[in-house]
Amino acid sequence: METVLSGIRSTGHLHLGNYFGAVRNFISMQRENNCYFFIADWHSLTTHPHPDDLHNNVKIVLSEYLACGIDPEIATIYVQSDVPEIAELYLLMNMNAYIGELERTTSFKDKVRKQPDNINVGLLSYPVLMAVDILIQKANKVPVGKDQEQNLEMTRKFAKRFNNIYGVDFFPIPQAYGFKGKMVKIPGLDGSGKMGKSEGNGIFLYDEPKTIQKKVMRAVTDSGPTQMNQEMPEPIKNLFTLLSVVSTPDTVDYFQEKYNNCEIRYGDLKKQLAQDIINFTSPIRERIIDINSNDVFLRKTAKMGAEKARENASKTLQEVRKIIGFKSF
Ligand code: TRP
Repeated sequence: METVLSGIRSTGHLHLGNYFGAVRNFISMQRENNCYFFIADWHSLTTHPHPDDLHNNVKIVLSEYLACGIDPEIATIYVQSDVPEIAELYLLMNMNAYIGELERTTSFKDKVRKQPDNINVGLLSYPVLMAVDILIQKANKVPVGKDQEQNLEMTRKFAKRFNNIYGVDFFPIPQAYGFKGKMVKIPGLDGSGKMGKSEGNGIFLYDEPKTIQKKVMRAVTDSGPTQMNQEMPEPIKNLFTLLSVVSTPDTVDYFQEKYNNCEIRYGDLKKQLAQDIINFTSPIRERIIDINSNDVFLRKTAKMGAEKARENASKTLQEVRKIIGFKSF
């Protein structure tokens, strides 16, 4: 059995892109592996969130993952800041991370460009903290999207370096967890690219039916096909991609045929799509609301997760201290 670890950014609500791109796969993954899911609230401090928002964001993310089906009895789900061992190992690992290599990562260079007024040390050593998240649980698989590949590469570098410096075979070298083609890339409804929070085109699991309807009805289309069986332009393909994940195959076939015969009415297609998204998200939304207001359950879940995560983390940390040469009197 593999140890799989995934870090979740604590910056607000999940959209359909998150769900079909990752979260849905976590649900099956947790049954086949020893899974750790944690909410990266320390990482979120690089952008200096307001104290009033910090906890609430963590709570929302926790509620949403639980509502989607992450099972705290099967997987270990915890909040990063509940595991102080991570902070100590971060201090130790920072000693073997070099400023030059950290400055050269694409995410750091990106941030320097985008937020020149806040290039803090935490931002620079973000990859070290992420490596520690992974290494402290001795995870060998990490499900990551394209944007996190370089961070995983840095993790391997730091793990190998530690093993080399001390002549040990201590940290496993983590690899990307492949979903074997089960990842569905969900497009936005603005006719371009993918669905994303920063793109401002997200349909959120937590959106109310009316909001979903409005967002779908506003989706970009064209003036309709003019030739039988003509290829679909991007914005129309996007509508069908969404339809394919939330509707029945019959429904998809029905509209595909209408399109092929040049009889499609985009208004009908959108109405159906909106309804099927609503049918899909409504039960999840109800569970989110339920869980989010159940402080007893959330407290119990976070506590249980932190205990399991800390037990494993402190074992790793004690061994690391010994390897480095710390001894108690
Ligand atoms: N950097 C990741 C992101 O932005 C979040 C993260 C933090 C993470 N620590 C991690 C992901 C450890 C995987 C493993 O999405």
